[in-house]
Amino acid sequence: MASFLNSSIGKKFLMSLSGLFLITFLLVHLVVNSMILFDPSGALFNNVAHFMGTNPIIRVVEPVLAIGFILHILYACILTLKNQWVRPVGYDKQHSGNSSTWASRNMFVLGALILIFLVIHISNFFWKIKFTGSELLDNGGVNGVENVYLLVTTLFINWWWIDIVYVIGTVVLGLHLTHAFWSAFQTLGLSDNRWRKRLVIAGWVYTILVAGGFALIPLWVKISSMIN
Ligand code: HEM
Repeated sequence: MASFLNSSIGKKFLMSLSGLFLITFLLVHLVVNSMILFDPSGALFNNVAHFMGTNPIIRVVEPVLAIGFILHILYACILTLKNQWVRPVGYDKQHSGNSSTWASRNMFVLGALILIFLVIHISNFFWKIKFTGSELLDNGGVNGVENVYLLVTTLFINWWWIDIVYVIGTVVLGLHLTHAFWSAFQTLGLSDNRWRKRLVIAGWVYTILVAGGFALIPLWVKISSMIN
């Protein structure tokens, strides 16, 4: 087992497993965040966010999510450095016109940009909710439910450049996902020639839904505040 996980195939296997876990997390995260769009009073989003934050199952999944992220990033670095070492000229650059896509050739750079986005994102919300607190969270919270809606919407309304960072972040995430989705299934041995086409299409549908959905939220919040 240890020798499998130390091999390149084993590392790719773990990257794919952690990647599929992150893909599932993103869908759940989007469903929760989309509540911002449906109730301008914020009560719906606050209650769902509170349920997610206090639910014992989610509390167990949170550290697993963190470990998933760390493994995914660590193995991406190890595999990329190893590939550079073996092929310093860059196989993909030599074959850049062939069947590989731009996204597939730039997965490491796209991943690094997503990491930068995540650091900004975690400091915007998660860090304040879990560690530092914010007067916005206490403003209008009912029965111990924090006003996360006010924290999120105040940021998106007051700082237009943050909206742009979120839109760019989700476009980069989308590019990463177009390749990651089917590639993860392929690495886990769950794809053949017939299934690959279907998985590529499913990957595009998932990407447009997830990246489009996340990009819509800051734009929606900002534009509605300008209209009302
Ligand atoms: C408009 C888009 C987004 C909004 C409004 C949003 C909102 C939030 C909020 C409020 C939290 C804190 C939840 C809590 O602790 O109660 C959070 C956490 C988090 N977000 Fe986002 N998010 C967005 C997009 C994204 C994207 C695109 C990613 C991934 C690339 C992401 C990854 C995470 C992670 C990993 C956490 C920490 C784990 C967690 O609390 O569930 N988010 N987000």
